[in-house]
Formats: sequence, C-alpha cells, structure tokens
Amino acid sequence: MQRVLAKELIHYIDKQVHVRGWLNNLRTFGKLTFLLLRDRTGLSQIIIEDIETKKKISHLQPGSILSIHGQVVASHSSHLKVEIINPIITVENTILEIPPIEYYKPEIHSDLEFVLDHRPIALRNRELQAVFKIQAEIAHAYRLYMHDTVQAAEYFAPNILGASSEGGAEFFNVDYFGYPATLAQSSQLYKQIMVGVNERVFALMPFFRAEPSQTSRHLSEGKQFEFEMGFFNHWHEILDIQEGCIKFILSYLHEHAKIEIEILGNKIIQAPSNVPFPRLTFKEAQELYYERTGVDERHEPDLSPAAERELCSWALEKYGTELVFVIDWQTAKRPFYAYPSDEDPHLTNTFDLLCGGTEITSGGQRRHTHASMLEGLKMKGMDSSSFTDYLSIFKYGMPPHGGFGMGLERLTMTLLKLKNIREASLFPSDTKRIAGNRIKANIFFGAENIRNEIIRLCHKHNLPIEHLTHEATPTSPDSARVRNVKIEEGIKALILRGKSSKKNYQFNIPAHLKLDTKVASDLIGEKCEFEDPAVILERFGLQVGGVPPFGNLLNLDNYFDESIKTQSRAAFNCGLPTESIIMSSKDLIAIADPKWGRFSK
Ligand code: 4AD
Ligand code: MG
Repeated sequence: MQRVLAKELIHYIDKQVHVRGWLNNLRTFGKLTFLLLRDRTGLSQIIIEDIETKKKISHLQPGSILSIHGQVVASHSSHLKVEIINPIITVENTILEIPPIEYYKPEIHSDLEFVLDHRPIALRNRELQAVFKIQAEIAHAYRLYMHDTVQAAEYFAPNILGASSEGGAEFFNVDYFGYPATLAQSSQLYKQIMVGVNERVFALMPFFRAEPSQTSRHLSEGKQFEFEMGFFNHWHEILDIQEGCIKFILSYLHEHAKIEIEILGNKIIQAPSNVPFPRLTFKEAQELYYERTGVDERHEPDLSPAAERELCSWALEKYGTELVFVIDWQTAKRPFYAYPSDEDPHLTNTFDLLCGGTEITSGGQRRHTHASMLEGLKMKGMDSSSFTDYLSIFKYGMPPHGGFGMGLERLTMTLLKLKNIREASLFPSDTKRIAGNRIKANIFFGAENIRNEIIRLCHKHNLPIEHLTHEATPTSPDSARVRNVKIEEGIKALILRGKSSKKNYQFNIPAHLKLDTKVASDLIGEKCEFEDPAVILERFGLQVGGVPPFGNLLNLDNYFDESIKTQSRAAFNCGLPTESIIMSSKDLIAIADPKWGRFSK
C-alpha cells in the first residue's frame, strides 16, 4: 500500500491508508489514546482503543519511527478534520530516550539560547519547521523572479578569496596552505565581473563577516541574494527590480506557504502590491527622523537602528507599507566601488532597503571606468594590487551597472517579524557560536568559575598560595597596599584584540610597567589594541579589574613579560576585582604555561 501524507488524508475519508512518520506525542484520555504522527506535511491523529496496541507503544518516546495502517474517518473534534481509527502499528525504530527539548509541543517555550543548544532536534518543532520551509520558498521565489522576469543568469562565485571584497575590517582570515586568504564578505567583485559576461546576473551566496559584537541582527555567516545588471538608463531601475522582487516573493509566499504563515500566527510584513515603497534621500530620512522624534542625528553619517525603525513606522502610517528605500548615501559610509553622485561628490548613487525596521539590502550604481575605480580604492586606502582580476574588467570595457545584496536571514526575519536573526538561521554562527554550537574552546567562563579553577590547579599541584579578599583597587599601588606586597610583584593581565583577526590575546606584565603595544603587535604578527571592557565581560564573564594571568583558561594565547621571572613572588586578581592570590612566580609560570616576550616599558 502506498504511503499517504498527513495533508492528503482529507481525500481518503472512509478508506484504508498507510501512514508513516515520527511519533510526535501520545496522550491518553480515559479509554482512548491519541497518537500524533509527524511527516513532512504536518501531523495526523491516530486513535487507539485496542489494549494490546496501547501496550506496544506506551513506552515509546517522541521521534520513534512508526508505520501505521488504519481507517480514515471525518472528525469534528480535531482541528485536523480527520483521524485514523483501528490502527495496526509497526514500530520501525524504537526511541526510549526523552528528547532534551519539548519540540513536539506546538510552541517551544524555552529561550533562544536553549533552543540553539538543541538545534538539530528543536528544528523539528512545527513553528521552526515553518520558518525554514518559508525560507526555502523565499529562495525559490527569488530564483523564479530573477530567472523568469528579470532574465538574469545565475552564477556561482568562489568563497575563499585573496583579498577582502567589501573593504573595512569585518572579514575572516584563513590560512590557505600557509598563504593568507580571506572568506568572502560577499560576491560583489564576481557579480560585477559577470556583468561583463551576461549583463544581468544573480546568485544566492554565502557571506562571512567578522562582526565582533553580538546583536539581534548580525551573524558571522549568512546567505546573500545577489543581483547585478548593466545598461540601465537610470540607476533607479535597480530599485524597481528590488521592489518587484520583494513583491513577487511576498505574493509567492501568500500562495505557496499559506499553512506555514498560519502556523506562525499570520504575522507577515505588510506590503500591498499596489503601494510603491517610498524613496527618501538619506538627508530627508534624517530630517524625518528628527521631525518625528526630536532626536537629532542629522550630523551622523549613518542611520541608527532606532531611526530605521522609525522610518518604517512612518511608511506604514503614511502609505500602509513597511518597506522604505533610503537613497543617496554619503561617500564616507559606502564601499570603494560606489558611484559618486554627479550632482554632489560627497554623495553616492546608492540605496538601502529597510523592511520592518531593519536594513535588509544595500545596493546601488558602481564606478565603471578604470580610473574611477582606482580612485575609489585610493580614497579608502586600499591596495589596488590585490584587485588585479577585478580591475581588469574596467580596463576592457564595463557599461554603467549596479545591483544589490539582500541578506536571506534578514529578509526572513523581517518578513516574518522574528525578534532575532538567529531564529532565521538554521545553525547560526556569531561571537559565541560556530554553526549553532557554543564555542567550546571557552573552557572557563565567569569570575567565580575561573577563580575556582585557579585554586583547584594550585591544590592539584600542591602549590602554596595565599588567597585574599579585599576592596576593589583601582590602581596598582592600591593593589600592592591591600595585598601587602611590592608593586612590582603585582601582575597586570591585559586582554588585547588583533585589529584584523579580531582574535583576543592576553599579555601579562609587572604592575609598575606599561605595555608596549607596538612590540606586542610585532610578536603576534598583527596590529592590536585593548579589547573593549564590555566585550571582555560578555566573552569571558570577567571585569577588567579581575582578569587573572591565566589566558590559558580562557583559551587565549597567554604571553608573560620576561621581567616577571625576576620577582620571586607574584600577586594578581584571580577573577574578581575583590580577590587576589599571592604565590611563587615559579609556580605561577608552571601552571599558566605562558609564551614569553619583552613587551613592557
Ligand atoms: O550591506 P552589505 O554589507 O552590502 C554588500 O554586501 C554589498 N556587496 C551589496 C551591494 O550589492 N552593493 O550587505 C548586504 C546585506 C545587508 O543589507 C544585510 O541584509 C546582509 O547583507 N548582511 C548581513 N546579515 C546578517 N549579518 C551580517 N553580519 C550581515 N552583513 C550583511
Ligand atoms: Mg549595508
């Protein structure tokens, strides 16, 4: 007998069917047991009266794979409208372990961190499944629109690159057979190259961004819908295509993802197809924000997140749509390839599209002559020798062209009104997670855990220590006083950040000396600066005044200044600004396992 899916059961009333899927859950009311079975189209309800059958399944946990034959009947009580009675159940795969997260409930009530900790299983939840089914439909609709309506050709660009694609510092370095390489921030350069080939091109490409901060709208890895076209009469044609694309995606979803939208409570963005997205210049947008809120950001080069939200509220109130274009951005805030406005050299022919309060797209016209592109690179202080391939296209003829990059996760999040971009990424990477998993290398987190580990290590190796509690001490002389040691016996533990890699390093120096950042930079092979205290707190759970000389416990390269060896005692904060340990330097060195250098002055 052929398998019938949950969604199709309605067509089989009074017939015998075979269904197959995952046990979602079991509930017993009096003599009846209700079994919910999940397949790719949804849930079916099976009613069990037979005592032997009940016995066979009563111990099963959600996730067990079942194969069931039974009769379909119409049901007035079940919202599924049908149910299966008199089932004969075969257990194909017995699962006895209780799932770590209650994914089988209509909604998961756990917080996002917990959901992410159990991502592979949580994704089976009806709501989460709906989000990613819709995401798949969005991608499909994008391809349809670009292929059928815009007549663009899809391209597939590389992701390991020799140079950064967007400039700035937000890129990851990779060690490529010993040579430096970067992960693509976008396929910007390649889509422009492909305009020289196919004129109109599009892609759905991964992007990687070393975004050091944890926000609700930034990921370190995502996907971008890319588009680029040549030969327009006016660069605003790019905006027309972007608008047509969003409207097509929305109408496609309303037709093809009705059930999933319903599962998510019909909370989809408002963008009636007959209402044009308003187009404001950057200057107008700033004025409007000021007028509506009294908050004056008119001298800022960028829109704040609050301004973005306000502009979308304005568009909704005034036009009934939640999307708004902001055009003509300042040169300082746009990448090297942005086309300078003919009217005002401080402005560019560029746009952002805001959706439901968040930027989802950046785009615009590009410089298209060789001289202009060299000028753009020079203005941003970038090295043109890293862009030989790209620059060659301008030498050999490029038409006026432009396009956009739209984040898949940002689009999914804003269309569905999700609160956090991680909800729109299957396995999100950010400062705390790689592909959904907590970064395990952060072995010890938080002041007290770190202190306990230091003390545990000392006990384990039979190293004598003096452990003191005292007031927090703002300066090194204060610390020396409360610890009753010489100031040079104190150790200052500093957490630095590599400017290009964003990686943290720890440098430990005697308390009376200063760090020579230049020497430290030479030692690690990149420029470095002090890490932001807020980041230190977020990443390691440590206040700056409490950092101990144990970068090894934080999974950091841990450097000790040579002069630490010259003191016989070492005194340091052991995680908390109000607690210190005094011990022999030799013992400290033995357990902190440092790398050595001379970087104090
Ligand atoms: O604004 P961005 O950086 O622009 C570009 O990449 C250009 N190459 C686009 C162009 O054609 N001129 O990135 C484009 C979009 C953003 O609007 C956002 O939706 C998404 O990509 N995006 C991110 N999404 C999540 N996390 C991040 N860290 C993102 N960075 C960019
Ligand atoms: Mg942008």
